Amino acid sequence: MNDRRIVLVGFMGCGKTSVAEALAHHLGCEMVDLDSFIIKREGRSPAEIIEQDGESAFRDLESLALRDVLQARSVRIVALGGGTWTIHCLSIWLDAPFEVCWDHISEHREANRPLAPDRDTAEIRYRSRRADYALADERIVANPGESSEIIAKKILAQT
Ligand code: S3P
Repeated sequence: MNDRRIVLVGFMGCGKTSVAEALAHHLGCEMVDLDSFIIKREGRSPAEIIEQDGESAFRDLESLALRDVLQARSVRIVALGGGTWTIHCLSIWLDAPFEVCWDHISEHREANRPLAPDRDTAEIRYRSRRADYALADERIVANPGESSEIIAKKILAQT
């Protein structure tokens, strides 16, 4: 795994934040969840920004936030908000079946995901993004019922 930055990518609800926390715990290093970083900085959640100012305004803020997080050398693990990643990172795609993501999205309505308002819209978006996620350096399959702990261990074994 050497000392490259680790960036977790994958669809909404696949478990990026909790797996990043489990990994950071194992490696004893600092992690940042990009959505939480944006909330702290902007005082509004990604959902509020998308709903009030539109998706493209959110993407601008997201890209500035990503740049700043990647510049902080102390941060080793970054959980992205379903967005993008850079060549300076070891990117890991958490490939969870759509059912797993949808169960998570619908169980956590409080997370408010305007880009996944209903099952059909979410599934279309999920399918259209797979080719991009597949560009990640590593693909880790997140099977139904697997805990974040198990998935973090698979990452440690595979990278
Ligand atoms: C988005 C995912 C969300 C959040 C925003 C946009 C996306 O984060 O960044 O609503 O485009 O996939 P999660 O992946 O943590 O839900």
